Formats: sequence, C-alpha cells, structure tokens
Amino acid sequence: MTQFSFDLHNTDGKARTGIIHTPRGDIRTPAFMPVGTAATVKAMLPENVRATGADILLGNTYHLMLRPSAERIANLGGLHKFMNWERPILTDSGGFQVMSLSDLRKMSEQGVTFKSHIDGSLHEITPERSMEIQRLLGSDIVMCFDECTPHPAPEDVAQKSMRMSMRWAQRSRDAFGDRPGHAIFGIQQGSVFKDQREESAEALKAIGFEGYAVGGLAVGEGQETMFQVLDYAPDMLPADKPRYLMGVGKPDDLVGGVKRGIDMFDCVLPSRSGRTGQIFTRHGVLNIKNARHKDDPRPLDESCTCPACRSYSRAYLHHVFKAQEIIASMLMTWHNLHYYQELMAGMRDAIAAGTFDHFKSQFHAQRAQGDI
Ligand code: GUN
Ligand code: ZN
Repeated sequence: MTQFSFDLHNTDGKARTGIIHTPRGDIRTPAFMPVGTAATVKAMLPENVRATGADILLGNTYHLMLRPSAERIANLGGLHKFMNWERPILTDSGGFQVMSLSDLRKMSEQGVTFKSHIDGSLHEITPERSMEIQRLLGSDIVMCFDECTPHPAPEDVAQKSMRMSMRWAQRSRDAFGDRPGHAIFGIQQGSVFKDQREESAEALKAIGFEGYAVGGLAVGEGQETMFQVLDYAPDMLPADKPRYLMGVGKPDDLVGGVKRGIDMFDCVLPSRSGRTGQIFTRHGVLNIKNARHKDDPRPLDESCTCPACRSYSRAYLHHVFKAQEIIASMLMTWHNLHYYQELMAGMRDAIAAGTFDHFKSQFHAQRAQGDI
C-alpha cells in the first residue's frame, strides 16, 4: 500500500510547493480544502467539487458524531463511500466546533462535555474518543484533539491552554496508534506569544507527527496580527512535513500564508459566500444582491472558465439569488471554489517557476482596480 508521504518540490523564499501522497490520491500543495462539514460541500456534487480542482475535502468530527453518528457511517462503509468522495479527507477533531456551536460546554483535563446544538443531547469528546470517531469515519488525515485558545487571552491563560493541548496531543498520538496510509497532524497553539508557539512546536516535534497545523489563528486577531505570528510560527515546524493553517481564509490570507511557508488551508468562506451572494474574483469581492447587476449581461468574471461564468450573466445570477432559487447557491458556490482552486494553482506554478513575488504583486495590483 502507498504510504503517507510529503515530497517538497520547489521553494521560492519561504513559499513551498510539493505533493502529499496518500493511498487515496495526491494532494498538490499549497492546497485549499473545501469544507464538507455535514458529509457534503453544500450545494455541490462531489464530482463538481473535484472539477473545481480540489484534491482533498475537510470533514467535521463534531457534526458527524451528532448526526448521523460515526458508528452509523462506519457501518455504511465509511465517510468516503457515504458521501461519494473517494479522494482524501481530513477531519477536524471536534473541540473547535464544540466551542463555537454547542451549548453548556464544560472543559476539563479529561476532555469536553457539551449539549448538542441539534437536539440538546449530552456528549463527551476526549482525545481518545476523537481518535475513535475519526477512525470510524475513515479519515485520511486525522487532527489532534486540542483547544483553540480564544483571542485575546492573557499570557498565563494562553499558556495553560496550550500546555493542556500539548498533553492532549500526546494522548491523541497514543490513541491513534499505528495506521499505515493514514496520518495524524499535531496542532500548534500559543496564541500571539512567540515563546509559547516555540514551546508548543517543540512539544509536538518531540511526539512526532506526519504533519503540523498552526491553530488558534483567524479567531478575531485581525490579518496584521495573524501575519505577525505567521512570520515566525511556521518556521518552528519541521520543513519536511506539511504545514496547515486551520480555518483560513480570505484570498489575501491564503497568499500571505503561502508567502510565510504554509502548505494547506481550509475555510467555509468560498462555499458559504456562494450561498450568501458574495463572489470572489481577481478584482475583488462582488455582491450579486446589488441592484446594479439587474441588467448586466456580462459574466461574473470574463476570464473564469467555471459553469457560472461560461453560461450565465450577472443579471441571471442576480435574479435567481433574489428569487431564492437553489441554482443560485449551486452556481455561485461553484464559481467561488473554482476561483480559490485557480488561486492555489497559480501560486503553485509561480513557486515552481521562482516567480512567487511577482505573482503576489500582480494579485494585489488586480484587486486595487476599483469597481467590478
Ligand atoms: N479550526 C480553526 N482553528 C482551529 C484550531 O485551533 N484547532 C482546531 N482543532 N480546529 C481549528
Ligand atoms: Zn466563474
């Protein structure tokens, strides 16, 4: 069986391009992972998500354990078969979603207990249970169970939280065991404190993981502060393993993340925005609700090859959005995911050609050009 491995192909400054090999297929990096929280990338068929250029999807422990349950999915042959996506799936470990979605959370050294946001039922996730759920789902890349330290956090609070996450990282690694072809990633915490990021990186490296995530960012600190942390945090993680920035982000966050040595990203933004009418283009964000699109025969983006741009006008998309037709979500999600994957492909090509800085200045210059 093909094992899990990472080949670094080219670097350009701190930016890197390579391939993560898995038994379910290759992941070209830098990679953007569309979010398939409830065993679907909302409004998209899996083959259409693939057609946008995605190599891997993200799934969620928290949502799937509550509905339809990990055991049910396992009995039905695993998450890949269940949702008809044969390529790699990375699953988040649950803690982050518990804190943002559930009621009556209680955190202790053991783990977290909470009430379901769906039916109020009581549940517990521990590092051991999170590993079991992710194994039942059949996840290819399993994330450690951690606490995403809220922002802002006083230094001593952030330190206590980070140290507990590092004890949970050891318990996660132990419970994960030895599973050829599957990988487990550690998650660095430490808020905005450089010495804590260093301590966290050292703890994770001592345990040993197939990849390393930067967690605890994009939690309200703002892009400037996030980039300040990313100026040093990825460098603390092994250069020969994938580095994943969790929950990020906007297009300019991805470009800034890649510049600072990040290989993987995930975010609900392109898919969620597709349903709320926010369209990402090379020139910036366009809101399809805006009345100025009512009579506009042009596509969202003249140069985009997605189905929404090839066959439909802004006027049509404005109309189906206003009429709350399902096709509005389908077409606009497709366009946004296509845009994100083209952005990643553009960055990979530029890194391979040694022209990433030029790519980045072009990216920013196009966006400065006013009305879209
Ligand atoms: N998603 C966004 N940030 C985080 C984080 O810090 N930890 C986990 N597990 N998921 C995240
Ligand atoms: Zn398009």
